[in-house]
Amino acid sequence: MQIKLDVTGDQFLASELKILTAFQKTHISKAKGSKSETTVSVDHWYDDSLKEEFQNLKNAKNFKAAKDETISFTGAIGETVWVVGLGDKTKFNAEDIRKVIAKILKGTRGSKFESIGIDVPGFNTIRDEAKTARVIAESAWMTDYTFDKYKTKKSEPYNFILILAHTEKKNSIKIEKALASTKNICESINVIKDFINEVPNVLHSEEYARRIEADVKKNLKGVKIKILNKAQIQKEKMGMFLSVNAGSAYEPRLVHLTYEPTKVTSKTKHIALVGKGITFDTGGYSLKPGASMAGMKNDMGGSATVYGAFRSAVLEKAPVKITCILAMTDNAVNENATMPDAVVTARNGKTVEILNTDAEGRLILGDALDYACDQNPHYIIDAATLTGACLVALGNQVCAILGNDQKWINEVLGAAETQNEYMWQLPIINEWRQDIKSKVADLKNIGTPMRAGTAIGAAFLEEFIKNDIKWAHLDVAGVVDSQSHLPYCSPHGASGLIVRTLTHLLVNGK
Ligand code: BES
Ligand code: MG
Ligand code: ZN
Repeated sequence: MQIKLDVTGDQFLASELKILTAFQKTHISKAKGSKSETTVSVDHWYDDSLKEEFQNLKNAKNFKAAKDETISFTGAIGETVWVVGLGDKTKFNAEDIRKVIAKILKGTRGSKFESIGIDVPGFNTIRDEAKTARVIAESAWMTDYTFDKYKTKKSEPYNFILILAHTEKKNSIKIEKALASTKNICESINVIKDFINEVPNVLHSEEYARRIEADVKKNLKGVKIKILNKAQIQKEKMGMFLSVNAGSAYEPRLVHLTYEPTKVTSKTKHIALVGKGITFDTGGYSLKPGASMAGMKNDMGGSATVYGAFRSAVLEKAPVKITCILAMTDNAVNENATMPDAVVTARNGKTVEILNTDAEGRLILGDALDYACDQNPHYIIDAATLTGACLVALGNQVCAILGNDQKWINEVLGAAETQNEYMWQLPIINEWRQDIKSKVADLKNIGTPMRAGTAIGAAFLEEFIKNDIKWAHLDVAGVVDSQSHLPYCSPHGASGLIVRTLTHLLVNGK
């Protein structure tokens, strides 16, 4: 799919499918006993001939412009016109724009339109044409993603040109910029969706690191990349990370990426992103039951999410220094796999009793966070599919955030709000910090079963943050896949969510 901006309106008029919008207006009569009346209002007819043709339609009277209600007719030059109902204009926000655009595009799947014109002012309920164009394009590019490499019959691609038409010439530079930046971000989102959806017999730790390296070399000029292999991870004394990798047929990898903006001053902030990259989670000796194990190829989703944000921020020339640390291994079982009751020593020197080998994410992340602290960032943010408890607490639609600095957490929450991505804070209380003290070692890797699992995981991670670095942890176990309520995400497979939030944070200075 190609997206073009049309300032003159000529391309829009020549498009084979034109999308216009209509809103519902309810008039409440003050007179006693009289009913309220609903009328349809189209704010922006692209040209008067379309308006006339619409008004001459027999079924126009029945069209109430309710959300998802569409009326279709043929225009003067034989083009198809869809007038799409958006419901109450005062309640229609940016996320509604994303949703309706995805539904419209899905409605065109299999059709032969070579160009589709979207009337941007018609969607501009948020009174910002550049942002309206941005969210339309965002939705289009996210919807345009399919993962069909293992299907012999491929799905129909959206191979049309999407024309975004707008009326105000003075806004065109701003809109062009918004579209170019949206393209960078959505391309990164679609790259990481491929990583997440890739199957675990192909995307093991060694292959995952290779694919990241290839992408960095091809697309991220100036970014430094260092990949630690098993011997180097041993040298780093990452005992927890190595204990998870012990049962694997593959070597672990720690990918270390660095980006610096062109202008660095003493005020330049340095942010570290850290991600859980478990390419498959069997649970290890604490084996998962079959039904819970399927889908665990997505257990590297946290690392893919932070890489997606890093990638977009680099392409968008973020004004901050960014370190990105991705810890990769599978959690498998063989004769060398770590047994429950084992005690290992973390990179920071703390001893950890492993009571459940399925609580492996915190083990690899603990060492990765300690390594990240040594890079001296001002802020750290980690993302991980850490706990099933997150789905119990917040469903699969909401990302959990926890951390050690309320201001930093608020900044991340604020960024999520700008992107209409759901994020909710959970607490870390001292009682839960006590709950991970071990009888035989400094720490144990689980707390009381069935109690505050997401926060216990975060309390464990907190043990590996040093020098009072401001840290926020995102549990993306729910949001990383299967977002069937969002039409611009595939109902099964990777969602690509949270990349937008993190990119916004980085590109806007933090
Ligand atoms: N990768 C899982 C968490 C998960 C579960 C992600 C479901 C997505 C969907 C994690 O490694 C795990 O197994 N956590 C355990 C922790 C427990 C043993 C303390 C869990 O949630 O059951
Ligand atoms: Mg696990
Ligand atoms: Zn896991």
